[in-house]
Amino acid sequence: MIEDINLSDKKVLIRVDYNVPIENGQILDDYRIKKSLKTINYCIDQGASITLMSHLGRPNGFDENFSLLPVAEKLTELLNKEVLFSDDCISDKALLKSTTLEKGQIHLLENLRFHSGELENCLDFSKTLSFHGDVYINDAFGTAHREHASNVGIVNFFDECDIGFLMKKELKYLSHEITDPIRPFTVVMGGAKIKGKIELIENFLKQSDNLIVGGALSFPFLKVKGYDIDSPLLNDQDIDCAKSLLELSDKLNKNIILPYDFVVSTSIDDFENIDMKTIENINSKDGCFDIGPETTMHYSQILSESETILWNGPLGVSENPYFGTGTQQICRIIEELSNNGVISILGGGDTAAAAKKFSQFNTFTHISTGGGASLELLSGKKLPALLALENNEK
Ligand code: 3PG
Repeated sequence: MIEDINLSDKKVLIRVDYNVPIENGQILDDYRIKKSLKTINYCIDQGASITLMSHLGRPNGFDENFSLLPVAEKLTELLNKEVLFSDDCISDKALLKSTTLEKGQIHLLENLRFHSGELENCLDFSKTLSFHGDVYINDAFGTAHREHASNVGIVNFFDECDIGFLMKKELKYLSHEITDPIRPFTVVMGGAKIKGKIELIENFLKQSDNLIVGGALSFPFLKVKGYDIDSPLLNDQDIDCAKSLLELSDKLNKNIILPYDFVVSTSIDDFENIDMKTIENINSKDGCFDIGPETTMHYSQILSESETILWNGPLGVSENPYFGTGTQQICRIIEELSNNGVISILGGGDTAAAAKKFSQFNTFTHISTGGGASLELLSGKKLPALLALENNEK
């Protein structure tokens, strides 16, 4: 752990994930930036200087639309202290800046992905980056499922390296706490696609006491069960996956809990013909855009009897005010339960966005900063960035 490293007078190179939405130079969501502050402040308090590095988006070479400069400005505001910025992450000027930082100074490097070496996990690029610090800390959970130069190759060049506080918290809640959870443990899964969530559902069929499925994710399961449901989001591959997951649930003697009723309309833009229908009455012309009130009540009941809750994915088209009620109510009940001491863990970008819209946001036990990384970790996969650090210890 970072606490085991003597950071006094050290130059600490921290990999953060500042891949945040930016429009016209304005940061639209600073959650990831705020979550990086604990490690930064700790290093400063220990008497270190800091160089921060991150990627932003998926640029093809240099592109000023993908510059991290707005993040340097945001950090300056949040830390109430000047954050220096270098417009190239491996230029001589940037390296000189890092090596001449004084205690307490903070330096942010320009987007790592302006160099192809980052994605290629190029060892020469890692080596050059490593000259920015004496100690390497990885706090970029959102990127930990990638095998890139700044989070995998780079550990070869450090004797002292470890994870930061954000990474530690993500691992605590997305791995340790749910491997041996306080029970009953309920998992709520939504979103649009099964693809990418199969291993997650498989994993939670085994680990959880209740597995609730909503949103378009429920459609292939309902189709397999013989209901006359249709959607442009339904495809044969997902239906096959749902079939094998339902077979697995039978084998394990577990139940995948599916919606009884839906808020339907003829199309996502048709607000005149909104109706509630139970699953038996739905036909292939109905667009199912939200879970219905019976389903919401049933899910709320299960949640209120839980001690640990993991929520991944909205239960309807939650960004649309006509079809967001189910997600809103489930979000509120999870929030209320968190206030009463239930452990609540939220994973995935869409879930975090729903929580931001429908709740006080900071009442949940943990809202992950990772999208793909949280899905992979929850599926039980080992993340390359963590494996690199583990292997370096041996
Ligand atoms: C994310 O936002 O999921 C991470 O920052 C990783 O970004 P990437 O999918 O472009 O690698």
